[in-house]
Amino acid sequence: MYNAAAKKEYLQLTQRLLATEAPQTLEAADEIVKDLRDAISFHDWNYYIQSQALIADQQYDYLFKMLKQIEARFPDLLTEDSPTQRVAHGLSPDFPPVEHNVPMLSLDNGYDESDLREFDNRIRKLIGSQGISYTVEPKFDGSSIALVYENDRLVRGATRGDGQVGEDITPNVKTLRSIPLTARFSDLGIAKIELRGEALIKNTVFAEINNQRREQGLKTFQNARNTASGALRTKDPGETARRGLEAFMYQIGYAIDAEGNNLLGSHLKFHSENVKQLQALGFKVPTTETKLCANIEEVIAFCEEWERKRNDYEYEIDGMVVKLDDIKKQELTGYTSHHPRWAIAFKFKARQAKAKLLHVEYQVGRTGAITPVAKIEPTPLAGVTIVSISLHNEDFIREKDIRLGDTVIVERAGDVIPYIVGPVPEARTGEEAIIHFPDKCPTCETALVKPEGEAAWRCVNFDCPSQQEERLIHFVSKDAMDIEGLGRDIVRRFMAEGLIQHVTDIYQLDYRRIGQMEGWGQKSVENLQKGVEASKENPSWRLLVALGIRHVGTITAKELAKKVISLLEYQNWDLEQLMALEDIGPKVAESIHEFFHNAANIDTLEKLASLGVNISRNPEADKPTNDKLGGKTFLFTGSLTQFSRDKAKELVESNGGKLLGSVSKNLDYLVVGTDAGSKLEKAQKIPTITILNEQEFLEMIA
Ligand code: IVH
Repeated sequence: MYNAAAKKEYLQLTQRLLATEAPQTLEAADEIVKDLRDAISFHDWNYYIQSQALIADQQYDYLFKMLKQIEARFPDLLTEDSPTQRVAHGLSPDFPPVEHNVPMLSLDNGYDESDLREFDNRIRKLIGSQGISYTVEPKFDGSSIALVYENDRLVRGATRGDGQVGEDITPNVKTLRSIPLTARFSDLGIAKIELRGEALIKNTVFAEINNQRREQGLKTFQNARNTASGALRTKDPGETARRGLEAFMYQIGYAIDAEGNNLLGSHLKFHSENVKQLQALGFKVPTTETKLCANIEEVIAFCEEWERKRNDYEYEIDGMVVKLDDIKKQELTGYTSHHPRWAIAFKFKARQAKAKLLHVEYQVGRTGAITPVAKIEPTPLAGVTIVSISLHNEDFIREKDIRLGDTVIVERAGDVIPYIVGPVPEARTGEEAIIHFPDKCPTCETALVKPEGEAAWRCVNFDCPSQQEERLIHFVSKDAMDIEGLGRDIVRRFMAEGLIQHVTDIYQLDYRRIGQMEGWGQKSVENLQKGVEASKENPSWRLLVALGIRHVGTITAKELAKKVISLLEYQNWDLEQLMALEDIGPKVAESIHEFFHNAANIDTLEKLASLGVNISRNPEADKPTNDKLGGKTFLFTGSLTQFSRDKAKELVESNGGKLLGSVSKNLDYLVVGTDAGSKLEKAQKIPTITILNEQEFLEMIA
């Protein structure tokens, strides 16, 4: 990007600027402002891409501040791509959906040498053996992003979303200093280009963030990947900036010239060269971590080398990606709906550690199920320290023959949840003891029972304090009543203080008393009250979920809530009626039936209703629906201008149509807004699909 001569020039420029005082007139400012931006971009590149600081932090700050002052004083000189614009001010609103012009597919997975050989054989069968070479690069374990540059400027950053539609996170993406705000694609004849890559947090930075959080008494983050994807999607770009994200670019989604001609394959011919080209334009790309391999043997050797080296690498990677290097050949192999046939991810084995099992605790869930939890010596694994791991149930312990004092193998795949693979019998000393599952509830001492056909032992005492606590925590949780300001810890505290015991108490809180409790100010009490009040207006399916009827999740709850005006009507439903509902089988029906034939539950519902909690069907749903669309299937694509996506969905459903998620033979109508992309192309190839614009759709239901 910057060669030795350019470096010298920029360093001289930096020296000159550092010796300059902030300009006082528009003319003087105009003269210097571009130099300042160039110098800052140069130092950003050195620092964030080359990992090399050529000036002291204070000197960098001096340049940055001067630029900011100029822009504040002479707003005409402010440009959108100025480095000062990386941290946008204030909160960004929601992240509007953006359709990817070329879908962001996933990768096929391979786990060993033979999977790689098979991949190579498949490719050779598809396109012959001539001139096959592969690029191998790290599979970064971060959050994927797509960047669009138009006329050399970064115009959009988006998440992957479901691969078809992502979220527009441009203000947040702009805060990443390793992402150039401008790049000279025009020198290559490129008018518009989409780059794909991964935003991630360096391991040391992640550890530092967690250290700070620990010091501040905040909950630590589980892993770098989730922290990165959370940071990309915060409403506060300043927060994104503070999390120290970096971005590696590893793919060109598409590239077109000013006439709209595709350049990928015709001009940008080899993946390895494209990546080098991106590096030359100032992007951060994998360099020493990647290799162009002449055959599959080299690929295998390089993948295995990196599996051994992964712990020494600065970033979290969970495998290597093997890509056919020749783009024209890539196109010849083609795609499945899920992944390209020209690439494969070689996944590393999950990381393992050994730890001593110290003791077992037994937790009581909201339905009384007892879960044994292994407490182990604090064990660092894949970025976090593990101290407890679920043992699921008694059978799990018996099948694996896990004993107290055993050394156990702990595994943590890319996921958050650690797992015990099994004990290490060779490490036994003879001191290990059999784990005796309790026969009484650890909280209320009621005798445990194990219903026929179930794996869990249960405490059947409905009033067991642990169950009560878990029920309350579930009631207020995100998927249920979603009461803001009332989380797990507060529920525990309120219970301990005797403020709540039963879900109905949540709607009779003594706010005056809470205001006098330590740590509660007027503002937090107000927020709590607002959250509680707002939850009264929830659609009734949330209440159904919150009540924790066994086997009733969101989908069943929504189905149930739709079918009656008041939830209390279910008192009069029999099993047959329940089973006639969509997707409700005998087991679920029985559980619902039992719940609504229990007097205590009906009391609870009536009490909640009397306290103002909504137990009725949403009035919207009462609107007479019609069958104008006669069960036909619809899909919307592109930017809609006449109505929102949510509204579109509602219109289809309330008029008796169905929505589909993708283009297929089952689709009857594709409704296109502006800038429709791949879905339209695909639909045009299926003759039975009718393509409508928004107006034509509205006419169908008018
Ligand atoms: S190429 C069509 N290259 O892996 C192929 N993906 O499982 C597009 N990923 O969503 C992906 N490192 O987020 C590619 N060097 C790399 C990658 C990589 C990580 C992620 C990416 C993608 C996921 C697919």
